[in-house]
Formats: sequence, structure tokens, C-alpha cells
Amino acid sequence: MKIGIIGLGAVGSASAFLLASKKIANSLFFYDVNKDLANAQKIDLEDAIFDVKINVVDDVSAMLECDLILFAFSALICANRVDELRANYDICKEICPKLSNFKGIILIATNPNDSIVFYAQKLSKLNPKKIFGTGTSLDTQRLRAILSLKLNISANNINAYMLAEHGDTMFFAQSISTILNKNIKDFFIDNNLEYDYLAIEKEVITRGADIFKVKNKTEYGISSTILRIISCIKNDEKKIFPLSVVEENLAYSYTYLLGKDGIDRKISLNLNEDDLIN
Ligand SMILES: NC(=O)c1ccc[n+]([C@@H]2O[C@H](COP(=O)([O-])OP(=O)(O)OC[C@H]3O[C@@H](n4cnc5c(N)ncnc54)[C@H](O)[C@@H]3O)[C@@H](O)[C@H]2O)c1
Repeated sequence: MKIGIIGLGAVGSASAFLLASKKIANSLFFYDVNKDLANAQKIDLEDAIFDVKINVVDDVSAMLECDLILFAFSALICANRVDELRANYDICKEICPKLSNFKGIILIATNPNDSIVFYAQKLSKLNPKKIFGTGTSLDTQRLRAILSLKLNISANNINAYMLAEHGDTMFFAQSISTILNKNIKDFFIDNNLEYDYLAIEKEVITRGADIFKVKNKTEYGISSTILRIISCIKNDEKKIFPLSVVEENLAYSYTYLLGKDGIDRKISLNLNEDDLIN
């Protein structure tokens, strides 16, 4: 797979390493406004992995031949989502119109994720099935990791979701979250474990900020999410991810089936008032 990465900071470079080492990408295209950084990431990665071809390009239009482009750029990372949006919207204004003829898939990790997905889709005019954000996929992964520790059961057996905004207002969709055919809440109760829905939800929501406070980056979680999403596309796995997709002039995370052509279809859910108690 030929994959373009825009922004070779922590998220872009960790994703490049995973995509190359897991043999999802055999050819990578790097673009960063800091070309020296993109070149240094290329050389470092070439030292680690021998069978991947890496091109550092001067403009995103050189990525039109890629199968997929990852947005991992950021001009500003801070606690204020509005300032972040202003800075990253300006980058979208510059690059998205250049990608309007792109035939592949654009996956967006840049924050604030839902807003950037919305503007990138509008500015590129691409089909929303081909341009979408990681949304609450990382938060869903975090939720499963937290539940796994509390329940002492593999995260692979936990079918739980965070939905809506990738930010402070996202929610733990407990009514549809299960282990086998048992609702997550009942699973806690049956195992004599304390079930504090709001505490679990809060732990997921604050997890990124808690990591960021200390290390100023949060690249491992999101790069593994990116790997899972791109592997699903490459292998046409038709897995369900909570992705941020533009629909009816809004972008937020809902459950979508993903395959080689991007979003295959939306999977509707029977949410209920239990999900809205916060
Ligand atoms: N969606 C998620 O769940 C999630 C998780 C973690 C991080 N993120 C987001 O991913 C983005 C990147 O985070 P990071 O930690 O890698 O940041 P970083 O600062 O390490 O890297 C950002 C890179 O973008 C480059 N850049 C700046 N302006 C550019 C432009 N005009 N064109 C191309 N490249 C440009 C910078 O030179 C830098 O190398 C941020 O928006 C961050 O909030 C998202």
C-alpha cells in the first residue's frame, strides 16, 4: 500500500513506524512544513526497516498517487480547542483543495478531530465515505483497556464503545456495550464488582490529557488506532469502528463498517436514556 503522511511529528512518525514494520505500507510519502524533520524521520526509519521505500515530497500534490493519506499535522497543540482549530484550519485551507482529485482515502488524526474532518471534507469536496477521522476509535480502545483491567478479561472480548465528539462531550454508550451477550453493567453486577459508569467515562475522557500533561505527546495509542483502521482498509476486513464522518453538515463519531473503499455503511444503534445520564 502507498501511504502519504502529512505531519511527521510524534503521531505521524509513530504511525509510519508501525505501518512499515507491520508491512501495511511498502511505500511511504512524507510531507512536513519542516522538511529537515521529514528527512530525518525518513533516514531513521530506513535504519530500522529495510524493505520500505520512503519519499520526502515538497508538496502534498505529489501524494495523489497514494492509496491513502494520513493527516497528522498540527501547527499548535494546546488545551484550547478553538485556538487549535484556527491554526489547523489554516493548514486545511492550504492543502485540501490540492487533494480534490484524490482517488484514495484520507484518514484524519489531527485535532480537533471532528471540526477538522468537517472542514477538510468541505474544502476538498471529496465523498465523505473517503475522508473521515479516527474520531472516538482511540477513546473506544482506551475504554476497552480500562474495562479489561477492572474486569480482568481480555479487551478483545469486550465490545464497548465511546461515541460522539472526540473531546470532552463524548459518551460511554453503555446500553450497547457487552461481553458475549451480557450488558457490561450486568457483567459487573454478576461478578460482584462495583459499576461506576460516570467514573469509567471520565477516566476515558481525561486519559489523553493525563498522558499529555507529563509527556507532551500521546502517540502510541493513536498510532495503534491508525494501524488498525488502515489494516482494515487494506485487507477489506469490514470491521466496525466509531469514526468521525460528515453527514448532514455535521461530523461526529458513530459506528461505521469499514472496507477497502472506505466507509461501507453506517451501523445504526439502539441507544437509550442510560447512555445520556451524564
Ligand atoms: N485523534 C486522536 O485521537 C489524536 C491523538 C493524539 C494526537 N492527535 C493529534 O494529532 C496531531 C499531531 O500530533 P503530534 O503529537 O504528532 O504533534 P507534533 O507537534 O509532534 O507534530 C505535528 C507536525 O505537524 C507539522 N506541521 C505543522 N504545520 C504543518 C503544515 N502546514 N504542513 C505540514 N505539516 C505541518 C509540524 O512541523 C510537526 O512536525 C495533533 O493535532 C494532535 O492533537 C490526535
